Amino acid sequence: MVSTPKGMKRHLTNYGDPDFSLYLRTAFIKAMGYTGEALDRPIIGIVDTYSGFNPCHATVPQLIEAIKRGVMLAGGLPITFPTISLHESFAYPTSMFLRNLMAMDTEEMIKAQPMDAVVLIGGCDKTVPAQLMAAASADIPAISVVTGPMLSGSHRNERIGACTDCRRFWAQYRSGAIDRGTIDDITDNLVPSGGTCGVMGTASTMACVTEALGMMLPGGAAIPAVLADRMRHAEQTGARAVALASEGLTPARIITAEAMANGLRMLLAIGGSTNGIIHLAAIAGRLGIDIDYEAFDEMGRETPVLIDLKPSGSYYMDDLHRAGGLAPVFRELRPLLNLDCLTVTGRTLKEEIDTLPEPFTQEVVRTIDRPVHRGGSIAVLKGNLAGGGAIIKQSAGSPELMIHTGKAVVFESVEDMAQRIDDPNLEVEESDILVMKNCGPRGAPGMPEAGYIPIPKKLARQGVKDMVRISDGRMSGTAFGTIVLHATPESAIGGPLALVENGDMISLDVPNRQLTLLVDDEELERRRTRFKPAVDPASLRGYLRLYHEQVNQAERGCDFDFMRAARSGTTTP
Ligand code: FES
Repeated sequence: MVSTPKGMKRHLTNYGDPDFSLYLRTAFIKAMGYTGEALDRPIIGIVDTYSGFNPCHATVPQLIEAIKRGVMLAGGLPITFPTISLHESFAYPTSMFLRNLMAMDTEEMIKAQPMDAVVLIGGCDKTVPAQLMAAASADIPAISVVTGPMLSGSHRNERIGACTDCRRFWAQYRSGAIDRGTIDDITDNLVPSGGTCGVMGTASTMACVTEALGMMLPGGAAIPAVLADRMRHAEQTGARAVALASEGLTPARIITAEAMANGLRMLLAIGGSTNGIIHLAAIAGRLGIDIDYEAFDEMGRETPVLIDLKPSGSYYMDDLHRAGGLAPVFRELRPLLNLDCLTVTGRTLKEEIDTLPEPFTQEVVRTIDRPVHRGGSIAVLKGNLAGGGAIIKQSAGSPELMIHTGKAVVFESVEDMAQRIDDPNLEVEESDILVMKNCGPRGAPGMPEAGYIPIPKKLARQGVKDMVRISDGRMSGTAFGTIVLHATPESAIGGPLALVENGDMISLDVPNRQLTLLVDDEELERRRTRFKPAVDPASLRGYLRLYHEQVNQAERGCDFDFMRAARSGTTTP
């Protein structure tokens, strides 16, 4: 049997003479000052995602130092390399549009360069999924570490934090409840330190899900970015990466269909971001695994929300760390998890849960019989307005709107919505349902987080706080409201949302999982024959064209079809 080359001998540049390739590579790497002894060690790549445009990754330089220390203590040679870094507020048109590019960049750099294992430093929303998609496809031993959440801040003695409070205060400013000076003061304090958003947004969700998938050392999801604990965790991650290299434990052996079900279970129990489902579908697709959405919905009915964190609850991520991180969650979920799954520790999830630290009294993580929300956080909707499925985060919505019928007020695009939503002449009432089209992966493009359609100013000023809103877009994990998302197929390719017209009646019935456009089939057929796609891909160029031509729909993770595993057929239990 031919053994896989190790260290510097891996993935030699192709000059037609492997010995020459190694000789040349060695000559060049020596320019960095390495000795032959250093170069003989297992090489651990470290993905450097520091960027001046990414405050969520402000601590990456310190993390790299800690990871390097761990690698060297364990006898490896750490080598850092850069990839794309994405921050939510610094990615036009949306970070989701660029997630697949980051995944491709990361995968190709892992495959192109000589490393025996890789440490992935992610953090901000799209970075962790992009890296897991890449690691799943590159299939060398990989281990995740996240930058960790920011600390919570304060405004006039009230605790605040990005980004649930960002939206709450902005809604108050829009309604006239607070003035410009106050919102400016709040802006200074919403993000008081480096690190990811301090609530159960997408970044925190993906950190928790990554730990549940088994791709992160236990205890790593909730440690705040600026604590010494975070650096110790990074050091331990570096050391473990060296062992992973010799054991050859690859993501494909860790991220199985059963592990994916554990990730989905964690997503539900933490009241996680709806974006997490899309990212998990994309990661699963890289390994030939499909998510069974009916099973996921069933799982939702039996998995209560255990964590009392914003936006579904009241605490912040630094509170979750003080409460023991995910340890109490794993303890509560134990009977519902697939315990035989392997983790990056080389042990099973059962072994990890068996050795968790002793529980102590705390208020952030509830027990399964005293949950924050009993019915599961996310429901999967069916019906003629949700052909391939749509979802709603019921734990962040208004209970009185979970069964609601209303008149559609339609916006043709994000731009149309932005132009008209605050028009005093907009014909809209509190009981109406706001519908936004062309917000999906191709329509916008990039499926922006515009699904959180603001309450029209004239209603907000009357004190209206929530309305039913429907789109084929996404919503930030930090947002809240009775908001139906990810309606597929998206309207830009003629999905059911494209057929809705102003004044149509729509019925939402979350307990029965139904989303129905109350228009007869003949009329819908007439509208369908009139549909024309808004964008001609031939008019586009570059990555935008690739994206438009290849991106798949939300239920498959908005990945590029050609990046999914060639084999398929496994489904989550
Ligand atoms: Fe980076 Fe929220 S903006 S995690």
